Amino acid sequence: MKNKLIAPSILSADFLHLEDEIKKIEEAKADLIHIDVMDGHFVGNLTFGPFIIEQVKSTAHLPLDVHLMIESPDMWIDTYAKAGADYITVHAEACMHLHRAVQHIKELNKKASVSLNPATHPSVLEYVAEDLDMVLVMSVNPGFGGQKYIDNVNEKIKFLDDMRKNRGYNYLIEVDGGVGEKNISMLSKLGVDVFVSGSAIFKSKNYKETISKFRSLL
Ligand code: DX5
Ligand code: ZN
Repeated sequence: MKNKLIAPSILSADFLHLEDEIKKIEEAKADLIHIDVMDGHFVGNLTFGPFIIEQVKSTAHLPLDVHLMIESPDMWIDTYAKAGADYITVHAEACMHLHRAVQHIKELNKKASVSLNPATHPSVLEYVAEDLDMVLVMSVNPGFGGQKYIDNVNEKIKFLDDMRKNRGYNYLIEVDGGVGEKNISMLSKLGVDVFVSGSAIFKSKNYKETISKFRSLL
């Protein structure tokens, strides 16, 4: 079976005890730490920037999966690479020069990923898909944790899985928003490789049990 990765989103973590939260998800055998950067413009919420990511990097052992929900992400790629991001995701909707942004991330030897909002058709990736390490499919409108999974995203996942099979591309498919016990198995069957989960993990009593349960469903 292909490797399936669980990426807890620290958006739902307890920020007064962030270091402990990171330790707990590492002990629970998560695969990536998903970090949601929001600027209050591209999305109607504001989180944190490179300073917090540097701090997370100094204590984390897992790779950092940095999801930039910001305007003009092109201008910030160097900064987030330097802060310790391993995967850098930019939104297709926010990039005037998407091809250049992808090449820039790769030149810095980081994993290049592009995210699509729920209303964006995956055909926008037509001419960059072969260069991507990952496609992040938003399954809620970005900005907040704890929202409901949007069902027609299934079609988009299928489209992306077919495209990589037909053309021999290697990108991973990551799904973000409303992922939990109820849909993780179905998403895995559709071809998803990386499962972001915020509230379903951090609002659970025992992260280890929750992540093991997720794995048993893949
Ligand atoms: C939303 C973020 C997500 C969020 C997911 O804009 O990109 O990563 O943390 O949270 P849940 O899993 O609670 O939907
Ligand atoms: Zn995210």
